[in-house]
Amino acid sequence: MATTAPRAGLTMGHIALHYARPDDGPLAARLLAQMGLVESQMLPLPGGNFYRFVVSPDHVARGDGIVFLSCLPEPQARLIAAMRTALGVGTGEEHPAVSAYRAMMAQDFEASFHFALLVDSLEDLEAMVLNLQHLAADDPDLKGRITIGMNRARPGDAAIDARLDASPVFATVTRHAYGGGGVQVFVETDLVCAGQLGESMVFEFDYVFPGTPRHILSAVEI
Ligand SMILES: [Fe+2]
Repeated sequence: MATTAPRAGLTMGHIALHYARPDDGPLAARLLAQMGLVESQMLPLPGGNFYRFVVSPDHVARGDGIVFLSCLPEPQARLIAAMRTALGVGTGEEHPAVSAYRAMMAQDFEASFHFALLVDSLEDLEAMVLNLQHLAADDPDLKGRITIGMNRARPGDAAIDARLDASPVFATVTRHAYGGGGVQVFVETDLVCAGQLGESMVFEFDYVFPGTPRHILSAVEI
């Protein structure tokens, strides 16, 4: 008896994300576009717009590389609210597990649920970070809604280290990825409700240097 089903291969299809309130839809969609995703459909609905994004224009007609974005369904919103009330989130009586979870996430953006996209140009990634830093600091709507973190490649490759030392965004970064040959950018936003507390979403953007067979996404190093 076969223990595995024969198959030709899989690709990553889609992820379904949610914003908290109907009015948040356009701003959440704007942020996804600023992060490089391509909006291919916007369906206005009374309970909040439904959006379909894809990772590149090549994916508009495909069934993979898709990010769906819609308003939090009411039962899920009630579940999150009940959970947060039970745990005393944001009160003086907050359950110690909540602060422990937050402390873990403050140390490592990718310690819990997150979603990563691979970027094929370091210059594009640097431009995205500069833009998001500007929006996080100065945009009237996005100010305070975005937190950005970065990991440099673990040092050891002279050419990569020199390139990152000359980078407008990575030069001052002191954190390192779980490996060499690539960099990571993390964008956390409360415009998307996910994670264990239903209060934010962590997006990751990675770049892998060409010609590095062992890199951050091929092997984890501790
Ligand atoms: Fe990750």
